[in-house]
Amino acid sequence: MAPIAVPTNDAIPPAPVDANDDLAEVKAKIAAGNVGKKSWASYAVPPDNAIRRYLKAGGIDLYNGYPAYKQADSVYDNVRDTERVLRDGREFVDPGTRADPEKKALFAAAKEVITLTKHIGTELVGVQLKDLDDKQRDELALLIAERGVVFFRDQDLSPQKQLELGKYLGDGEVYDFGTLATVPSLGPGITLIWEKARSYQRSYRLPWPEYNGYNGQGWHVDGPTATEQGESSYTHLHHDSVPSDSGDTTWASGYAAYDKLSPGFKKFVDGLTGIYRSNTTAKNSKNPDGPRIPKFERAPLVRTHPVTKWKTLFVADRGLVGIEGFDKTESEVIIKYLVSVYNQSQEIAVRFKWTPGASAIWDNRVTNHAAVRDFDWSQANERHGTNVISVGSTKPYFDPKSKSRGEALGIEGWLDPALDTEKWFELYHL
Ligand SMILES: [Fe+2]
Repeated sequence: MAPIAVPTNDAIPPAPVDANDDLAEVKAKIAAGNVGKKSWASYAVPPDNAIRRYLKAGGIDLYNGYPAYKQADSVYDNVRDTERVLRDGREFVDPGTRADPEKKALFAAAKEVITLTKHIGTELVGVQLKDLDDKQRDELALLIAERGVVFFRDQDLSPQKQLELGKYLGDGEVYDFGTLATVPSLGPGITLIWEKARSYQRSYRLPWPEYNGYNGQGWHVDGPTATEQGESSYTHLHHDSVPSDSGDTTWASGYAAYDKLSPGFKKFVDGLTGIYRSNTTAKNSKNPDGPRIPKFERAPLVRTHPVTKWKTLFVADRGLVGIEGFDKTESEVIIKYLVSVYNQSQEIAVRFKWTPGASAIWDNRVTNHAAVRDFDWSQANERHGTNVISVGSTKPYFDPKSKSRGEALGIEGWLDPALDTEKWFELYHL
């Protein structure tokens, strides 16, 4: 695995609690508000740091059940609102396309710009996400598109500000995962990352592809993978509370995974069409009262990123289920190999150690990520954060003329040269 990013600061100091707010009293009131709530969901008092963050943000009702669950029954359509947006003919403009390629305004706000690994991951030190203006936000989008994932520590970030930034990056739209726990009072678009709130719908022992058995392990992208619902562009995960010794996340670069393929294999996969299964299920339009079904969609296996124009390999070990024109056995062999490129390539990945107040924003179009599940259940409840996923384009594309990142930046030297058959024959006197 790539070097672990070393935290630059100690844990974020607790935010000041309002003069009128005594933490013990607040916790007692939250607990009282949870009494008598529906048994299908989990209600609990969040960690202290989360409470301080909410109190500082203001406008969040913690006393009528925590967390909030938007919909009590399982037939709620997770992506209903997003589908409405796309039906209305939304044209997506990625803010990264407007950015100054040198990102001067954004970098001027940073005390330090740390390149965490050669191929993926940058940490911006000293930047507060809440203070970025639109020009800096555009440049941030470009930086994320280029580097795959960008990290920030010690953020003073309200859930409201996080939601606003997500909407900006999604050109006005974020996903609404209606069945997942959320922050009270904020409406759709922000999802809670807290095992305590998810346990009602999860079992860590169920085998995939049961939809309630997934726990973030294994390479994946966020949001609905099926592109008719709009691909997910940027995810912003912010943790206000984390265990000190566990719960890291890893990301791997689709640009670098593509660059690792041999020239022959690149030629083979360029232009192929993948068949992707949505991460979420939806009502069956032919049988609306029947069981929910996953959605399937065709999309290019190698994509041209709409901002950087670099080729990226769009492969995850959940999501990609087939390749058009190949039968099941052949597809499985190809997909297995492509996933193995991620699994066996430590140099295309970055692993991030969370600290309270840290944010990571990544581009789902060019990265896979995976949870590192090394915490026990009691620690899992201390891992508490908020997640916002921006909606991207409905039309991922492949431009055969586009370059790989290695070609565009002249950094192909890290790759093994293609097999030089002449030399090989010479060497072995064949
Ligand atoms: Fe995820």
